[in-house]
Amino acid sequence: MDKFYVTTPIFYVNDKPHIGHAFTCIAADVLARYNRLLGKETFFLTGTDEHGAKIARAAEKSGMEPAQFTDKISGKFKDLTKVLNLSNDFFIRTTDKEIHWQGVFKIWNSIKASGDLYMGEYEGLYCVGHEAFIKKSDLKNGVCPDHQTEPEKIKEENYFFRLSKYKDELKKLYQDEVIKIKPQSRVNEVIAMLEESEDVSFSRPSKDLKWGITVPGDDTQKIYVWADALTNYLSGIGYGRNEDWRKFWPADAQVMAKDILRFHAIIWPAMLLSAGLDLPKALFVHGFLTVDGQKMSKTIGNVVDPSELVKKYGVDPVRYFLMREVSSADDGDFSEKKLEERHNGDLANNLGNLVSRTAKLIETKASGEINFEEKFIDLEAKKKVEDTTEKFDDAIDNFRLHEALANVWELLAYANSFLDFHKPWAKDEDAEDLLLTLTTVLGIILNAAWFLKPFMPETSDKIFETFGADEDYKSWIGRKFVVKKVEPLFPRLK
Ligand code: MSP
Repeated sequence: MDKFYVTTPIFYVNDKPHIGHAFTCIAADVLARYNRLLGKETFFLTGTDEHGAKIARAAEKSGMEPAQFTDKISGKFKDLTKVLNLSNDFFIRTTDKEIHWQGVFKIWNSIKASGDLYMGEYEGLYCVGHEAFIKKSDLKNGVCPDHQTEPEKIKEENYFFRLSKYKDELKKLYQDEVIKIKPQSRVNEVIAMLEESEDVSFSRPSKDLKWGITVPGDDTQKIYVWADALTNYLSGIGYGRNEDWRKFWPADAQVMAKDILRFHAIIWPAMLLSAGLDLPKALFVHGFLTVDGQKMSKTIGNVVDPSELVKKYGVDPVRYFLMREVSSADDGDFSEKKLEERHNGDLANNLGNLVSRTAKLIETKASGEINFEEKFIDLEAKKKVEDTTEKFDDAIDNFRLHEALANVWELLAYANSFLDFHKPWAKDEDAEDLLLTLTTVLGIILNAAWFLKPFMPETSDKIFETFGADEDYKSWIGRKFVVKKVEPLFPRLK
């Protein structure tokens, strides 16, 4: 059986989740649900990244011990998986000694055994916000442009990972598309970053990094973010504990925003090559979400809490809006006004009305039931559905989720105009084309519900329920669909 393994980045627990995190999680969930729908054995992993100076400082600031603090914030990310109706199979925490640490030790030891770790002196500028060293040339007026803080000057002994050894091999792997990057437009960016890459610091002195995993066999050093955080993608499926990981590894899609592409496209595969492990098949990279045109920030006070949003609008409208409005290639903007416009337009008018008026027409004109037969399906409409399927699959495979949805809405517009053209409400019950009109539109709606299942699982189920149907599209022909209930899917927002 085909398998599909999809991951999100593991999120830092220095602060509670916002809609940027929600975006990544929903995108990965769409991929997981879509592949399950295709019948693939699917594993979807998400979780939290809990070590490091940034988190230790955030804990201290809130007057808590790091362990207590990370439990609290990680709990909020875990709650978010429920709020967003994510179908993740596991939630990994890097502080989990039983699940995660064994995997980290194992990969560390494999990389060491390949001769790729050496002791060296590091001198550099360290940005706590980034949890990483930062180049002088990246500073603006002496401060980190992302965090507006001055970096710390650091000189220390630590283990280095011989990344430079893998540069040429990685370059070739990207050129030959062995590891795919979607959108493809980012490949050149990765190749340029590769050219500039040097060996990376892989540990930090324990005295400077207290909140972390100790290097096996050297308690003067703690494992730095790379081998700790990135390894979650393996430890989350069993690596270090059992052999189950072999079933799902390599990952089929690793979802992230552009901010962390560099280390996922360079450090991570180099680590895997060094440890003799397979490489992920694809990195799916999306842009950044701004709010009302501005970068989300606590100082501006425009950080949007996804749980509040779901409380106000419901989970499916939020899932829909984020997946529809933000293209994966570019940055996207969030505003409640736009969400409400899409709710009333796309969801209430185009989708909701189509479903309710079709259900009502079947009730009034066909005694509430349709024998779903091939011969009553309009040929042009059938072709339209086939074209949509092709475009929809292609858009998802290429991580253009907004485009996949745009295709579904084109199909819905077609169905609405098909109804307006045939005007079944004005026809007698025995009119020749009545059955054809109703069967055709019902067919489009069932297909649309199938397409929407990964994006809006609850809505899709409600549509199927309205007509007594389900997502098993292979069984539709020859079945009798009976209208069960007609409730508006998306009451209009005032
Ligand atoms: N812990 C690291 C990742 C380690 S993965 C082995 C990290 N964490 S993070 O909490 O900062 O999350 C980064 C990810 O959150 C981004 O790559 C992206 O997926 C998501 N986003 C955070 N802010 C975002 C936006 N404003 N817009 C879209 N996605 C955003 O980096």
